[in-house]
Amino acid sequence: MANIPRLRAVLTGNAWVHPLAVELEIHSLTAELESLKNPQGLGLSSHLDGLREENAKLKYRLNVLKRSLQEERSQCSKTMMNINQRLQEIFGEAIREACPDLENPPLAVTPNQQAKFGDYQCNSAMAMAQMMKSKGLKVNPREIAENIQKNIPDNELIEKTEIAGPGFINVHLKRSFVSKLLTNLLLNGVQPPPLESKKKVVVDFSSPNIAKEMHVGHLRSTIIGDSMCRLFEFLGYDVLRLNHVGDWGTQFGMLIAHLQDKFPNYLTVSPPIGDLQAFYKESKKRFDEEEDFKKRAYQCVVKLQSKDPAFIKGWNLICDVSRNEFQKVYNCLDIQIIERGESFYQEKMTAVVKEFEAKGLVEMDEGRKIVFAPGQQIPLTVVKSDGGYTYDTSDLAALRHRLFDEKADIIIYVTDSGQGTHFQVVFAAAQMIGWYDPNVTRVEHAGFGVVLGEDKKKFKTRSGDTVRLMDLLDEGLKRSMEKLKEKDRDKVLSTEDLTKAQRSVAFGCIKYADLSHNRINDYVFSFDKMLDDRGNTAAYLLYAFTRIRSIARLANIDEAALRKAAETTEVLLEHDKEWKLGKCLLRFPEILQKILDDLLLHTLCDYLYELATTFTEFYDSCYCIEKDRKTGEVVKVNMWRMLLCDATAAIMAKGFDILGINPVSRM
Ligand code: ARG
Repeated sequence: MANIPRLRAVLTGNAWVHPLAVELEIHSLTAELESLKNPQGLGLSSHLDGLREENAKLKYRLNVLKRSLQEERSQCSKTMMNINQRLQEIFGEAIREACPDLENPPLAVTPNQQAKFGDYQCNSAMAMAQMMKSKGLKVNPREIAENIQKNIPDNELIEKTEIAGPGFINVHLKRSFVSKLLTNLLLNGVQPPPLESKKKVVVDFSSPNIAKEMHVGHLRSTIIGDSMCRLFEFLGYDVLRLNHVGDWGTQFGMLIAHLQDKFPNYLTVSPPIGDLQAFYKESKKRFDEEEDFKKRAYQCVVKLQSKDPAFIKGWNLICDVSRNEFQKVYNCLDIQIIERGESFYQEKMTAVVKEFEAKGLVEMDEGRKIVFAPGQQIPLTVVKSDGGYTYDTSDLAALRHRLFDEKADIIIYVTDSGQGTHFQVVFAAAQMIGWYDPNVTRVEHAGFGVVLGEDKKKFKTRSGDTVRLMDLLDEGLKRSMEKLKEKDRDKVLSTEDLTKAQRSVAFGCIKYADLSHNRINDYVFSFDKMLDDRGNTAAYLLYAFTRIRSIARLANIDEAALRKAAETTEVLLEHDKEWKLGKCLLRFPEILQKILDDLLLHTLCDYLYELATTFTEFYDSCYCIEKDRKTGEVVKVNMWRMLLCDATAAIMAKGFDILGINPVSRM
């Protein structure tokens, strides 16, 4: 109670107060109001009446302040507002006011597809009625909806609400506010929503194996993992991109033994291993057939593990050959990644095994050391019967390092779903030993399905071999050039522009085809489909994007003029199609937020496709420039519409950026 005079002083003061300070005051004032509702130990009823009056006045002022705080926030913020999230805040408050006794009431706000039902919809009333029913309370959901509607707090973005059907609350947004948000977007560019705290994210992706084929599974991991990193980076996280290559293991014994035989002077003259796959096959054959060679291969493993310099050198040489191959793929796809393979964790594995042993978590099983984690059927093998470590051991050590040394808040592993169980057991073991609490640290396996050929069988070449990634990328380049020539682009573009377009289309299409499918499902690889310029493909979106970009160029409006116009021209949203496009543009932050939660990137592809088609609808029915029918001369520029084109291009460009697609200005 003692706080009231101080609060009143703040609330009635006319001086500018920092929004944070206001927020703090609102917080304590709300608590104060709560205590006024339950005035324990206050027996004086006249005093109570006075306080109630005070309460009402303060509540009024509080709402006025809250509102100006919101307005201030939305105006001074350069970042894009997440409209859906803001509506959830508003409805969350209304629901709490309407049904204060309901614990964890469901909060459901979704954008509306059909304009006649308003722009967004709150569907909580029905679920709330269900909840109450299960508690023996029969309430009509429409009544609940009305009650929620009555309690919607003062806000900056809702024009009106109406109740429909069994209890839907349809929300109509204020056009002037949406227009302001678009101006904000044009003036500041596509800025991510503010981060509460800078979090560290580790993404483990790509991760091929040395001396083995980098296959289409690794391609998926590379494409999906890179896009996840790009999303986190855009949102302002501190991202560590890790390539957990398989660069250690007994296979290096036979590889080095074979290296010694084939290139005896490998220590001084760099051996010309052209084809590491063939080299691997040769050494494997000898390992299986020659008893002496096999023995020597084992000795080589021991030497390598004891860090004998000659053997480390041989190992490095072999790794380098693979590395160069991987790098070719990364260069094509513009992938940045830090190599930190299994070998990095060698010493750390010893310590990890000791740690599990010290806590009494290791069991012996026919000479192996195994670890059972709660709720898991399969144990981890941490030491093999020959004393060696396993994939399990290296993943435990890697996880520990990422948690304690990298201090990651979020750790994501991008591999095929087949490794799901492996990660589940590793995560369970790490929690069992107390390395992390899943409520604090997010450790997740983002799995994906297998790549199939057009015959729906495992992706193979015609002769049945595994497809080499570089061959696949080259084929993509060839096909995209054919497509460009089919459209006579070679006749209008310079050689340089044509090559740029070729790469953009080829690699963009390969990435987009992968990203636009729900990663959980298997996916059919088809050049014909991905290069089709109709439908939800990169080819279609890239063309759409260049077309949008060219609208201003063809009207002779340069970027500076557009920027200037954004400062002075209100983005009118009177036409239905303008309104639809404007709202679609502003859904970008809510799309990203959703992906942050479920790591499903196809949502972004679906959104970009929807944006492109919404743009086409707009462009078909709203003139951006008006030309003289006879002379073809531009007679009128509808600048606010040029700005809508510009905003569309900006969002699409940012979307491409997150997907790792590189659009070209001419194609
Ligand atoms: N090298 C493994 C493979 O090709 C993938 C490694 C994934 N990352 C990890 N930390 N296990 O299947």
